[in-house]
Amino acid sequence: MSEQALLRAENLSLSVAGRLLQKDLNFDVRPGEILALMGGSGCGKSTLMRHLVGLQQPVCGRVLYGDVDLAEADEAELARIRSHFGVMFQSGALWSSMTVGENVMLPLTEFADLDEEAVEQVARFKLALVGLDGAFDEMPSSLSGGMKKRAAIARAMALDPPLLFLDEPSAGLDPLTSARLDDLIVNLRDHLGTSIVLVTHELSSIFAVADRALFLDAKERTMTALDAPRRLLETGPEAVREFLRGREGGPR
Ligand SMILES: Nc1ncnc2c1ncn2[C@@H]1O[C@H](COP(=O)(O)OP(=O)(O)OP(=O)(O)O)[C@@H](O)[C@H]1O
Ligand SMILES: [Mg+2]
Repeated sequence: MSEQALLRAENLSLSVAGRLLQKDLNFDVRPGEILALMGGSGCGKSTLMRHLVGLQQPVCGRVLYGDVDLAEADEAELARIRSHFGVMFQSGALWSSMTVGENVMLPLTEFADLDEEAVEQVARFKLALVGLDGAFDEMPSSLSGGMKKRAAIARAMALDPPLLFLDEPSAGLDPLTSARLDDLIVNLRDHLGTSIVLVTHELSSIFAVADRALFLDAKERTMTALDAPRRLLETGPEAVREFLRGREGGPR
């Protein structure tokens, strides 16, 4: 394994319901990088993310966190590793019956050894970090789409994870709100050193934030490119260049 890797996929194959989606995936997530996972709808991005966080077991190959194979880890070890992962799922909604603050406090109450006052303090700090200082006592239903996404990121960041997984955080947001979210993602990396795996089909986000982008080809059923997005746009395989030129306008 490269010395640089925080997380590593080795010869990984993904399948759901007995159908092979992707095979021979080999890549690492490096400390402090923003890695975009891209590819057409249904190519297996969310499935890959579930494998990377140990929620789904590979049919073939392995995922290593440090030198621990997630599939081999016992429950205690997996729990310890998961506490290093902040995850925002594609459907990653907030609990609608809880306030925004309670949503962010939830992982802290569950996993952090803190008293009530400290839990609230940390949650308020995380909300401030995503620009939602005033929303602690609000119900999620009173927030805009972009605010909900930011609150969900604050919840994923609650335990100061070194590695953050975000599945389509800007889906359904207007371009300005989406650009602000991109800024937030870059800020988290720049100021907290968080490594980020970002699943997205938003070309503007890929070019604005990703250090490297991994392309999952639905037809080939494997990764056909991994490099800086601009380099891929210039010299990547044709299918990847086509994807990156896309209808959504390319680099901004
Ligand atoms: N639990 C499941 N049971 C059966 N099929 C599934 C399941 N989860 C995903 N699939 C199928 O696997 C394929 C890949 O799904 P996945 O959600 O990983 O794709 P994706 O790249 O994230 O797509 P999108 O861009 O639409 O989010 C799809 O065809 C999907 O219908
Ligand atoms: Mg998905």
